[in-house]
Amino acid sequence: MRGLLALAWLAFAGMTVLPAAAQQQRPESCAACHLETGDERLANPVKQFGEDIHSAKGFGCVACHGGDGREAGMEAMDPAKGYIGKPERQQVVQVCGRCHSDARFMKQYNPALRVDQVTEYATSVHGRRLREFGDPKVATCVNCHPAHSIKPPSDPRSSVHPLKVAETCGRCHGDPKYMEVYKIPTDQLAKYRQSVHWRLMSVKGDLSAPTCNDCHGNHGAAPPGISWVGNVCGQCHTVQAEFFGKSPHAKVFAQMGVPGCATCHSNHDIQEATDAMLVLADQAVCAGCHAAADKGGKAAADMRALIDSLGGEYDKARAILLQAERAGMEVSQAQFDLNAAKDALVKARAAIHAFRVEAVKKEGEPGLEISAKAYARGVRALDELQFRRKGLAVSLVIILAVIAGIVVKIRQLDRRS
Ligand code: HEC
Ligand code: HEC
Ligand code: HEC
Ligand code: HEC
Ligand code: HEC
Ligand code: HEC
Ligand code: HEC
Ligand code: HEC
Ligand code: HEC
Repeated sequence: MRGLLALAWLAFAGMTVLPAAAQQQRPESCAACHLETGDERLANPVKQFGEDIHSAKGFGCVACHGGDGREAGMEAMDPAKGYIGKPERQQVVQVCGRCHSDARFMKQYNPALRVDQVTEYATSVHGRRLREFGDPKVATCVNCHPAHSIKPPSDPRSSVHPLKVAETCGRCHGDPKYMEVYKIPTDQLAKYRQSVHWRLMSVKGDLSAPTCNDCHGNHGAAPPGISWVGNVCGQCHTVQAEFFGKSPHAKVFAQMGVPGCATCHSNHDIQEATDAMLVLADQAVCAGCHAAADKGGKAAADMRALIDSLGGEYDKARAILLQAERAGMEVSQAQFDLNAAKDALVKARAAIHAFRVEAVKKEGEPGLEISAKAYARGVRALDELQFRRKGLAVSLVIILAVIAGIVVKIRQLDRRS
């Protein structure tokens, strides 16, 4: 019965354009009475609601629950006045969507706010399972945005602030018991917490690194299909993605049915990439599919050799310039020029994703030249230093000889007088 009434209310609400007057005009009776009951279940929503964005915008309990806030007694919760009680899981989406899918209504508050949450949610695994099977375990709006303490994503206290999202999703996805009936892993949170992305966010506060929703979508939390896994990483790692897109792997990986980037880097447990990934030893990524003697294996060895020599020459040049600088020689121009070799090293590492030795060579060769030049400058500086030191020694000897001569001369003069 209550369900039917609720539906009627929603249908009614859906037909009307919500006036801004849906906002509370005077304090509602709901909060006061609920606090007085002393029942935590009834009072807690009131206590939490003080910091909720809807409260800040002037909405009260009626905005979501219906009813009549002018009535002081239990008749405030009269279903005839639109009261729907505690929304059922299936109802929640409509309760929120009544405003959030109404572009005209939302524009009065924040024209920049998206109004596609409900439609996006409907495409997600969460939304589909809720609709098709009435699955009671999937996330609805209030699992990610706790009903009475909703805050914008930019608020550090929000359940959907970038630093909090992983925990919010992990509450279900990291709980093996909760997820038992589904045959999917429950290690995403634990693995993500080991990743370079999470370290970047949590330790360095770099919020440009991704958390769950950056890869899975905010509301369309669908499993990313193989075709767009590469796109997701490529949103941020554009250079690598571009190289990879043109590489021989792009096509074969699709044929093999393995994901692009995640095949070598994993998805949740992504670590810093190092040159050590480019080997054919057991456990190494290339060795999973290539032998040392095949084209891929040889390419791996050649690319590694290029990167190693580039790194080695750069280090050598840097070291000698540092030595010259410490000895007081002027080498700042050469040190500045050497930065370009470092850039070349970065570019050559990214060019690995073309999986062609030529591509790495093309990016790396200018770096080798620059390093060689800088090294030569360092050698010259040290030679110069050597030369100056010799010159100094010679002049010292001459000066000492002159002084000695003068002393002898003075003594001779003294003796005569
Ligand atoms: C006179 C006191 C009083 C007023 C006024 C009042 N409530 Fe309640 N409310 C209660 C009590 C008592 C319960 C618990 C009733 C029960 O468990 O059946 C309750 C239960 C609820 C519940 C939970 C229902 C459920 O199914 O679990 C909601 C939601 C609610 N009230 C919302 C409101 C709203 C919205 C208003 C204002 C329009 C309001 N209340 C006004 C006393 C009040
Ligand atoms: C933004 C919409 C929204 C607003 C505003 C709102 N509620 Fe709720 N409330 C909900 C939803 C959705 C649920 C169901 C939560 C769930 O299933 O976890 C709920 C649940 C409840 C419950 C049942 C709690 C329980 O654990 O059984 C009570 C009581 C309640 N609300 C009271 C209030 C009161 C009082 C106010 C005003 C101070 C208020 N609500 C404002 C959306 C809202
Ligand atoms: C009566 C209309 C209404 C209902 C019902 C409603 N909201 Fe809102 N909501 C708003 C308005 C208005 C804002 C303020 C937008 C702004 O100014 O940024 C807002 C803000 C938000 C924000 C913060 C957005 C931001 O970035 O500023 C979230 C998240 C949110 N609502 C989620 C929900 C959820 C979840 C529900 C259902 C439980 C819900 N809302 C129900 C009207 C509503
Ligand atoms: C699986 C978790 C999850 C569910 C379910 C969910 N949201 Fe969100 N929501 C998020 C995350 C994460 C963000 C933050 C996005 C960001 O950082 O910009 C967000 C942001 C929002 C915003 C701010 C504007 C925006 O779109 O970025 C609104 C409004 C909102 N959600 C409403 C809803 C409504 C309404 C529902 C139910 C139809 C819902 N959400 C369901 C996780 C969820
Ligand atoms: C209330 C618990 C809950 C929360 C919170 C939650 N999920 Fe889910 N999620 C589920 C359940 C249950 C499924 C269904 C599992 C299935 O069918 O494989 C699911 C399915 C998924 C799937 C599809 C998995 C697959 O391959 O079948 C993805 C991806 C996903 N969730 C991501 C997220 C993200 C990202 C967040 C946070 C923004 C989140 N979920 C928050 C419960 C939750
Ligand atoms: C850097 C991007 C990225 C981040 C961050 C990320 N995921 Fe994923 N996730 C993926 C990819 C890629 C897949 C694999 C999809 C496939 O194989 O089709 C995946 C798969 C999943 C699945 C399906 C089951 C599985 O493990 O294969 C779930 C559930 C899931 N992720 C939840 C989460 C949760 C929860 C978080 C945050 C704690 C998260 N993801 C963070 C990219 C990401
Ligand atoms: C929202 C942006 C974003 C997305 C999406 C993203 N990353 Fe990242 N990632 C970063 C940032 C920022 C860093 C740290 C700066 C850097 O090294 O580029 C980083 C670092 C890395 C590193 C370590 C780089 C190093 O220097 O060792 C790897 C490897 C990586 N990401 C792989 C991936 C893969 C694979 C995916 C997709 C499954 C992905 N990333 C998705 C932003 C993103
Ligand atoms: C076939 C394996 C493989 C695939 C597929 C792959 N990578 Fe890499 N990636 C590597 C190796 C090996 C390195 C280490 C390079 C080094 O440091 O010498 C690396 C390094 C990186 C780095 C660190 C910075 C850099 O450029 O060295 C990032 C970021 C990165 N990859 C992102 C991606 C993205 C995004 C994709 C998908 C478009 C991807 N990778 C696909 C093997 C792979
Ligand atoms: C998931 C399996 C897989 C992984 C992992 C993998 N490859 Fe490949 N690679 C292939 C397949 C399949 C081909 C196409 C057939 C062939 O030429 O061997 C290929 C082709 C290549 C080619 C082109 C060879 C040619 O014909 O010109 C190069 C170069 C290459 N891989 C290098 C690498 C390197 C370096 C790594 C490690 C960073 C790596 N691959 C990791 C499967 C893989």
